[in-house]
Amino acid sequence: MKQFLHDLGHNVAIIGTQWGDEGKGKLVDAISGEFDIVCRNAGGANAGHTIVTNGRKVIFHLLPSAMLHPSTIGVIGNGCVVDPLEVIEEIENLETSGFKVSDRVKLSLRAHMIFEFHKRIDTELEQRKGDKKIGTTCRGIGPAYTDKVSRIGIRTEDLLDRELLKDKLEHNCRFHSDSLGITLDPHKEFERIMSVVEKIKPLLCDTRKFLQDAIHEKKRILFEGAQGFHLDLDHGTYPFVTSSSICLGGVSTGLGIAPRAITGVIGITKAYTTRVGSGPFPSELEDEMGNAIRERGAEFGATTGRPRRCGWFDAVVVKNAVETNGIDAINLTKLDVLSGISEIKVATRYFLDDTELFSVPTTRKANNKLRLEYVSFPGWKEDLGKVRSFNDLPENAKKYIEGLEKLIHAPVRVIGVGADRGELIFR
Ligand code: GDP
Ligand code: IMO
Ligand code: MG
Repeated sequence: MKQFLHDLGHNVAIIGTQWGDEGKGKLVDAISGEFDIVCRNAGGANAGHTIVTNGRKVIFHLLPSAMLHPSTIGVIGNGCVVDPLEVIEEIENLETSGFKVSDRVKLSLRAHMIFEFHKRIDTELEQRKGDKKIGTTCRGIGPAYTDKVSRIGIRTEDLLDRELLKDKLEHNCRFHSDSLGITLDPHKEFERIMSVVEKIKPLLCDTRKFLQDAIHEKKRILFEGAQGFHLDLDHGTYPFVTSSSICLGGVSTGLGIAPRAITGVIGITKAYTTRVGSGPFPSELEDEMGNAIRERGAEFGATTGRPRRCGWFDAVVVKNAVETNGIDAINLTKLDVLSGISEIKVATRYFLDDTELFSVPTTRKANNKLRLEYVSFPGWKEDLGKVRSFNDLPENAKKYIEGLEKLIHAPVRVIGVGADRGELIFR
């Protein structure tokens, strides 16, 4: 692990390369003992990052997945959208389990807040979309980012001025009530937020300055991406995306650090593909094989519990993420799940009629006509859970990894062979 991290330099970003749930939380937890600070830069409690240590499972939604390490500082940056009550709940749950975290969390004064009305609007808009719904997590993410870009958002700094907060809540509830024809109650929102205001205040921080100082002092910083590159607002399968910037640029804007402060980038990539929610998924398996992968991989959402759609590895998808995010190394996760499958397929190219496409088409028409080219790899039967070195992997598992590396143009330097913290191979 030490050599791997040394090669990536001081400040390392972790980016999901598919549609989220690749296993980002597990790697963050596994390596964060080597970092002083771990940051979330985008998204909110739509994320569900699972870590397992000695069989014990913890799911992080807003706090970085590093908080089990006793001295790590967790930063929630300006690019995130947060419900303060959810932050406090997550902190208190950890403290009840014996982890002292409240004095190690720094929440940006510029982060936008999610209120109950954002969740209500999220649910309402999804319902109105009918069969065209996005399949959001209904955590209020889209509506909160909409308020942010409309320049009516309410930031955590507004908690420091009660009268102003009241005014803004009244304005926003009236505005959304009028435009959607639903009833929203600003007073209830105010009372709800006031119930945690004294607990939130000590967490508030100019996180940009905090990080600039940390960079200057040569502290080691890990940036924990949420979601996955193909859920990116610009580069994902729009409109079936989330509302934030998932790509590497989002680390810079979501925390206020210079792009060149990021010294290394790890892409997290599942050994097959999954997606929750609606939208195109070219290599999806809507058959027995898809069901088998879902069962073996326990592919059910960490935030909503929804069954994840499953499919073969898609090299077009991952290669795009590698290129756009400048990924230096890949952590291939859940390789153990593929044990016992006799023939493993990988999508390599897309064609629309006779024209090759280099990214997932976003129109329904194009997706219906899309033709995929696949290559096949012979599988292996062995259980991988106890394997700790690349050389000890079955020959066919090695060939699968080496085959993927050629297709995605990035080296696989970490391999996940089980959910537990230690079930990793560094190469
Ligand atoms: P994240 O959102 O990217 O952090 O991923 P999730 O936590 O939503 O989903 C990944 C799931 O796979 C979690 O249940 C993890 O415990 C589990 N997981 C992560 N890596 C591995 C692995 O290498 N093998 C197995 N079997 N499970 C893994
Ligand atoms: P992590 O960090 C997987 C998906 C939702 C939906 C779309 C928009 O655990 O990988 P939103 O609530 O963000 O407006 O929903 O994005 N989505 C995720 N899918 N993992 C995630 O996070 C996700 N966060 C959002 O399912 O399709
Ligand atoms: Mg997840």
